[in-house]
Amino acid sequence: MENTNVKPAKGKLGIMVVGCGAVATTFMTGVLMTRKGLTKPIGSMTQYDKIRVGRGSDKKYLHYKDIVPLADLKDIVFGTWDVYPQNAYQATVYAEVLKAKDIEPVREELESIKPLKAAFDKNYAKRLDGDNVKQCKTRWDMVEQLREDIRQFKETHGCERVVVIWAASTEIYVPYDERHHKTLAMLEAAMQVDDREHIAPSMCYAYAALKEGCPFIMGAPNTTVDIPAMWELAEKTRMPIAGKDFKTGQTLVKSGFAPIIKTRNLGLAGWFSTNILGNRDGLVLDEPANFHTKEVSKLSTLETICKADDQPDLYGDIYHKVRINYYPPRNDNKEGWDNIDIFGWMGYPMQIKINFLCRDSILAAPLLLDLSLLSDLAARAGRYGIQRFLSFFLKSPMHDYTREEEPVNNLFEQYTMLKNAIREMGGYEADEEID
Ligand SMILES: NC(=O)c1ccc[n+]([C@@H]2O[C@H](COP(=O)([O-])OP(=O)(O)OC[C@H]3O[C@@H](n4cnc5c(N)ncnc54)[C@H](O)[C@@H]3O)[C@@H](O)[C@H]2O)c1
Repeated sequence: MENTNVKPAKGKLGIMVVGCGAVATTFMTGVLMTRKGLTKPIGSMTQYDKIRVGRGSDKKYLHYKDIVPLADLKDIVFGTWDVYPQNAYQATVYAEVLKAKDIEPVREELESIKPLKAAFDKNYAKRLDGDNVKQCKTRWDMVEQLREDIRQFKETHGCERVVVIWAASTEIYVPYDERHHKTLAMLEAAMQVDDREHIAPSMCYAYAALKEGCPFIMGAPNTTVDIPAMWELAEKTRMPIAGKDFKTGQTLVKSGFAPIIKTRNLGLAGWFSTNILGNRDGLVLDEPANFHTKEVSKLSTLETICKADDQPDLYGDIYHKVRINYYPPRNDNKEGWDNIDIFGWMGYPMQIKINFLCRDSILAAPLLLDLSLLSDLAARAGRYGIQRFLSFFLKSPMHDYTREEEPVNNLFEQYTMLKNAIREMGGYEADEEID
């Protein structure tokens, strides 16, 4: 690590997770179990991946922690907010993702993680009815209370740094509105006049985090930090932001599989993706207004990989459909089906079927670890604003759409961006040499 200029990861790192549901508790339990040497953090890039640095006879393959100063798992302290008052142990048991043998050894630690009162508005998630909720006069008041939560958490646990990551339910769709979301001044004015239509609770979490000097990551498809006003705030506070929507099951497959079709110049007529899912996330997404937010995020992947403008013969008329169906018997064990209609030489049609029997929270948990550690790293490296190198982990990567910037959705291009950012922060040259 001799080349890096990044500030060292000294002291405790607070990870405050918004939402204490299936994803959050699977993440926290996994980290605590790993720390005790009782399990392995499989799927985590920061814990497992090795990348090449240097070239020719100087080249070496190193873990991220040997290139850049990453926070150690033993220095992590968890905090959380939730609409329901159950502590993290109770919430882990309720989620039914993990077996008792994987929870009980860290029961006491989980029990000590008690959700703070949520900044919540039922209009944003009608299917939730918990009462562990802040009483807020205005959205501005909501922000003030959240800022106080972060300050107190930091002090109580003696944290050097805090990262705030959203793993709470998907809110209803809030489209970007130029009158309220364009500049920071507009956003603040809307919060002050308590404009509940344009200011989602998630925006209050993000605003509070950035103001308190914490990176913010949006793990659901919510608009939240995907607006110019928040980019301005992130620049002003010099804090990293990333989003949206953890790239876990079906979209991971899509962003890895679509490049096969594109690279071989095969045609694509249609891609039908459907899922059955029975956890609380599925219940919230059963509400059409909440599903719409997810749909927009899931649909965005394909069009930037198989581009109609570039190859009208091949991708000029793709029928892309995404469905999520709430089906309680499956709980967190989501099943996804993809039917892909492709065409080849002289236009002859073919089909590909992918059936992914996955576990939603098991796929999501390592992403929370990586996104938290890497955004903390980015902050110490002086990187702020949208962190494009984190697109690898996200379904609908943030990009400056006001300047017609296109997001990178191709998984392998995203991986190159990730590796190069680590190389650069480690004091090596970015490159695209074949490993
Ligand atoms: N698991 C995956 O593969 C995956 C992938 C991408 C995105 N996500 C997203 O991650 C989020 C969490 O998923 P999950 O399966 O853990 O859901 P979950 O329903 O088990 O947990 C979400 C929790 O958030 C709480 N909550 C809702 N609004 C809140 C607020 N304003 N403040 C604080 N808490 C609030 C709920 O009470 C609930 O306990 C969802 O938005 C989901 O869409 C999950």
